[in-house]
Amino acid sequence: MDRRTEQMHERGVSATVLVCTNDRTEYAACAAVDGVDVADAVRDWLRERDRYWSEVAVAETSCLGMCSEDGVAVVVQPNDEWFAEVTVGDVPTLMAETFGAAADDTTATEPTTTG
Ligand code: FES
Repeated sequence: MDRRTEQMHERGVSATVLVCTNDRTEYAACAAVDGVDVADAVRDWLRERDRYWSEVAVAETSCLGMCSEDGVAVVVQPNDEWFAEVTVGDVPTLMAETFGAAADDTTATEPTTTG
C-alpha cells in the first residue's frame, strides 16, 4: 500500500466527484438513466474551467445506494454532498452550487472547493 494523500494535495486535487454508472437489469440502475452522460457532463464542466483532475477528480462508480429510475446518483467528497436523480441538465447547477459561485468564472485560478 502506498499512501498518496500528500501527493494528490500537492497536485491541487481537493475533491472527488463520484458518478454512478452502474448497470444491471434487476432494479433501477444509473446506467439506464444516462449515468455515463452525467459523468461526461461533470468532466466537461470541469475541463471548461481547467479544473478536471487539477483540482477535482472524477470517478465513475458502481452503486452508491441512491438508485432511481429518474436520474443518476452523484457524491462529492470530502464535501459530503449526496445527490440523487441527477440529470445532464442538472449538472451545471450541481457543480456551481457545490464548488461555489466563483467556480463559474472560467478565468479564476484559485481553488474554489467549499466545505
Ligand atoms: S445503481 Fe446508481 S446508485 Fe444504485
